[in-house]
Amino acid sequence: MKSLDGKTAFVTGAASGIGFGIATALTQAGVKVMLSDIDADRLDEAVATLKAADADVDGIVTNVSVKAEIKRAADATIARFGKVHILCNNAGMTGAGDYGTWHDAEWDWLIKVNLMSTVWGIEIFGPLIEAHGEGGHIVNTASLAGIIASTTPAYDATKFGVVALSEDLRPKLAERGIGVSVLCPGVVRTQSLANARAIMAKHAPDIPKALSNPEPNERELAMVELMKAAIEPVSVGEMVVDAIRNDWSHIFTNANAAPRIEARFDMIRQGLDRAKAWTTGA
Ligand SMILES: NC(=O)c1ccc[n+]([C@@H]2O[C@H](COP(=O)([O-])OP(=O)(O)OC[C@H]3O[C@@H](n4cnc5c(N)ncnc54)[C@H](O)[C@@H]3O)[C@@H](O)[C@H]2O)c1
Repeated sequence: MKSLDGKTAFVTGAASGIGFGIATALTQAGVKVMLSDIDADRLDEAVATLKAADADVDGIVTNVSVKAEIKRAADATIARFGKVHILCNNAGMTGAGDYGTWHDAEWDWLIKVNLMSTVWGIEIFGPLIEAHGEGGHIVNTASLAGIIASTTPAYDATKFGVVALSEDLRPKLAERGIGVSVLCPGVVRTQSLANARAIMAKHAPDIPKALSNPEPNERELAMVELMKAAIEPVSVGEMVVDAIRNDWSHIFTNANAAPRIEARFDMIRQGLDRAKAWTTGA
């Protein structure tokens, strides 16, 4: 999508962090934005901030772990703006226990919030984007943890799922005039850990309280420290706008992740080399 001016976007998890950064950068490119988020107060604040900068935006409270809520938000977007061209499936959260401490309810919650919300977003918004024939773009927020398993099993697995979904659909939706990009941020300066804890405690009643609000562990404390010096969400939003304009497949925010990605590819290559040696008897 070379020309973004006057187009409409729907962004999930848009009240804070990366989602707000994407919404801000889109409005700066002349895009009208429907911001959606589970947190009504933060959403009001985000919409008011962008309106104060003369952006054409609105907000809708949506819990993306419920398919019917995404459908309702899509209807509201069409009612407010007439058409939709860009979908940013960004809402998501970290968390869930590691080996030996995980819980079914945490897996269910992360699968819904991180992965099924993206599936449902595409299923519901895809036909709306196709309907007007003007083309469009979908950006799915995964994580570097969707390329290198490096956090918790549930988070990594759901984010690998988002990468796979995006790569699978990219050529298929290109034939229908829709670009697909997957955003794989490294560390970005947000309040994601605190937000995730508060949302889980309020909206995921099946997760035992001791799990939804534990003391931060060593990895999480290190992450909070790294975030203090990390890239700002609005810079990520600007990259996303560039990606939509130029149809990037993968959007990375931290070039210093390259050696860790290469290390994973090397591990995979070793497996292929062993298969070659096995089949050729070499
Ligand atoms: N911050 C990072 O370092 C980082 C790194 C890699 C990937 N990510 C991903 O980026 C995305 C945004 O995270 P962030 O860091 O900006 O966090 P954030 O907490 O600042 O923003 C997430 C937003 O999503 C909303 N949200 C959470 N659950 C929701 C639900 N069920 N329905 C609707 N809205 C919901 C929250 O209210 C919040 O406003 C997530 O998918 C996250 O996994 C973040």
